Amino acid sequence: MADAPAALKHVQVVPLAERHIAAVLEIEKASNSAPWSERSFRNELTHPDGIFLVTEGSGRVVGFAAGWVLADELHIINVAVDPQCRRQGLGRKMLVELLLHAQEKGVTCATLEVRAGNAAAIALYEDLGFHSCGVRKKYYPDNREDAVVMWLHELAEWSPER
Ligand SMILES: CC(C)(COP(=O)(O)OP(=O)(O)OC[C@H]1O[C@@H](n2cnc3c(N)ncnc32)[C@H](O)[C@@H]1OP(=O)(O)O)[C@@H](O)C(=O)NCCC(=O)NCCS
Repeated sequence: MADAPAALKHVQVVPLAERHIAAVLEIEKASNSAPWSERSFRNELTHPDGIFLVTEGSGRVVGFAAGWVLADELHIINVAVDPQCRRQGLGRKMLVELLLHAQEKGVTCATLEVRAGNAAAIALYEDLGFHSCGVRKKYYPDNREDAVVMWLHELAEWSPER
C-alpha cells in the first residue's frame, strides 16, 4: 500500500501572483475535465472584480479558489486542490477565506454552478451553508452534464463557525 502523503507545513492562503501560474495550471489540468487556459488564469491577475486565492504548503502551491464580485453577489468561478492534498481541509479553508473577503467588501450572497455528478464539491458547498436552488440542464459542453445552481443567501450574517 502507498504511504499517506506527509502533512503539509506552513500552510498559508495568499493572493494569486505571477509565480503561482504554472503550478495553478497543473492543478487545474489534474482537477477539471475542461480546464481553464493559461490565459484565463493570467487574466485573473488583473481582474478588477476578482478575488483569487492560492494555498501554499510545504513551499509549493497546493490549491486555489477564485470568485468575482458582481454587484452584491460573489460568483465562485473555480476551486481545486492538488489531488495528493485533498481531504485535509484545504478546499474548505480557501472557500472560507473567499467568503470572508467578499463579506468585507459588503457582498451579501454567494452563488456557483457545480457539475451534478461532483459529489465531493457539492458536499463541501453544503457544509459551508450553500443550498441547491435549481438545475441548468446539459450545461457543460464537454459532456453535456447538468449544472446544479447553489446559493448562500445569508452571506452578510454568515460565519464559518455556524
Ligand atoms: C472539491 C475539492 C476542491 C474539495 O477540496 P478538499 O480540500 O479535498 O476538501 P476539504 O478537505 O476541505 O473537505 C471539506 C468537506 O467537504 C466534503 N468533501 C470533500 N471531499 C469530499 C469527498 N471526496 N466526498 C465526500 N465529501 C467530501 C466533506 O464534507 C469534507 O469534510 P470532512 O473531510 O470533514 O468530511 C476537491 O475535491 C477538488 O479539487 N476537486 C476537483 C475540482 C472540483 O471539483 N472543483 C469544484 C468545481 S465546482
